[in-house]
Amino acid sequence: MNETPKSPEGYARDDWQKHYDNDDLQWDLGQVAPPFIRLWEENKLPKGKAIIPGCGQGHEVLFLAGKGLQVTGLDYAPGAVDILSRSLEEKKLQANVLHQDFFQLDENHNAQYDLMLEQAFFCAIHPSRRFAYVETATRILKKGGLLVALFYETGEKGGPPFNTTPSDILDHFSDDFHIETLEKTPHSVEKRKDKELLGLLRKK
Ligand SMILES: C[S@@+](CC[C@H](N)C(=O)[O-])C[C@H]1O[C@@H](n2cnc3c(N)ncnc32)[C@H](O)[C@@H]1O
Repeated sequence: MNETPKSPEGYARDDWQKHYDNDDLQWDLGQVAPPFIRLWEENKLPKGKAIIPGCGQGHEVLFLAGKGLQVTGLDYAPGAVDILSRSLEEKKLQANVLHQDFFQLDENHNAQYDLMLEQAFFCAIHPSRRFAYVETATRILKKGGLLVALFYETGEKGGPPFNTTPSDILDHFSDDFHIETLEKTPHSVEKRKDKELLGLLRKK
């Protein structure tokens, strides 16, 4: 995502969709983010209902679906959900694919999820919407549910991706979540080494 043009106002849905139209997914790792695989292997991911907002092509959706979790992949760009739906069909995996705005999840999603997992989504939204992100995450997770995220600390101005520091996370999440882990991880892919924070945040 480093090469994505920076815009102080952030991106709208059409801006994201243009990337799918042009097959220009600079942020996409082409694989499941290794820190998530590690957490799975260490038995640190809850095994109930999971949601992955801003899932893009959905590598993590396919991964968790393959492990037998009841997963929902959500993205508001039609290009993303098309790719994910095709991949699920090809791999004969089951997941719920939602073409929708994360901030407008209706009340049927309240307190439904044991796990919300994401990467490059918190940093993709404009910083002015960060409290709305926390509000939605708090609303849809069960009490004791886990938010597992890779937060992108770009160290740059503008976005997306918008720089996300440890104090940004503490300032936004501490009221509603216990911050169990917030650290750089040695398992990041090479190009994101020392640039992303692995967060395990438990809903109070
Ligand atoms: C930088 S991409 C990351 C995709 C994926 N998580 C990855 O790392 O490959 C951000 C994604 O979030 C989606 N997105 C941005 N704002 C959204 C919103 N409000 N609701 C749902 N999806 C959104 C975009 O369409 C895009 O697919």
